[in-house]
Amino acid sequence: MSEFKIRLIQNQQEKEEMYYQRWLVLRKPIDMDIGTEKDEYDDYYSLHLIAVCDEQIIGSARLRQLSTELGSISYVAVLPKFQSQGVGTALIQKVIEIAKEKQLKSLKVASRLSASKFYERIGFRSTGQPFDFLGIPHQLMLFNLPYFQNL
Ligand SMILES: CC(C)(COP(=O)(O)OP(=O)(O)OC[C@H]1O[C@@H](n2cnc3c(N)ncnc32)[C@H](O)[C@@H]1OP(=O)(O)O)[C@@H](O)C(=O)NCCC(=O)NCCS
Repeated sequence: MSEFKIRLIQNQQEKEEMYYQRWLVLRKPIDMDIGTEKDEYDDYYSLHLIAVCDEQIIGSARLRQLSTELGSISYVAVLPKFQSQGVGTALIQKVIEIAKEKQLKSLKVASRLSASKFYERIGFRSTGQPFDFLGIPHQLMLFNLPYFQNL
């Protein structure tokens, strides 16, 4: 794979491309229609990160701030051809970097059970019991951010 870059989406066209990429990874395999990959928070209080390789969006993730202390990660998706090459980790590391800048204390994600090892490797810990969403077992996971006190 050529080099990839993680950055925020820059315009509406990129946002539409990102939705399509999100649909391809997270909804098409479970036979869900185009449009089901979005929710009411996508346009508000959300930051959209993308991984770009040769001008193609190969990965994406959303960070939504729920309070002054808590951020929520969702729609983490890497195109199958580009999985297991560090793209997902780089996306989450960038989310963590932004969360630190915002001085959040923790991040949560409802991970597909199949991806929980991926989050564990980054430092997330499972909490509570697995639950079902869209017919897929999920697990709530938390990441505590280091708190830097201003001296
Ligand atoms: C889960 C996902 C975001 C990880 O992104 P990625 O770019 O493949 O991850 P990385 O290459 O940074 O790390 C891969 C590591 O995560 C772990 N992992 C756990 N579950 C995994 C999965 N379903 N797919 C890929 N890696 C997984 C493995 O340990 C893997 O290491 P390995 O390649 O040495 O086996 C990506 O595989 C994906 O989009 N999967 C399908 C959709 C999904 O499950 N999204 C998460 C919703 S919460």
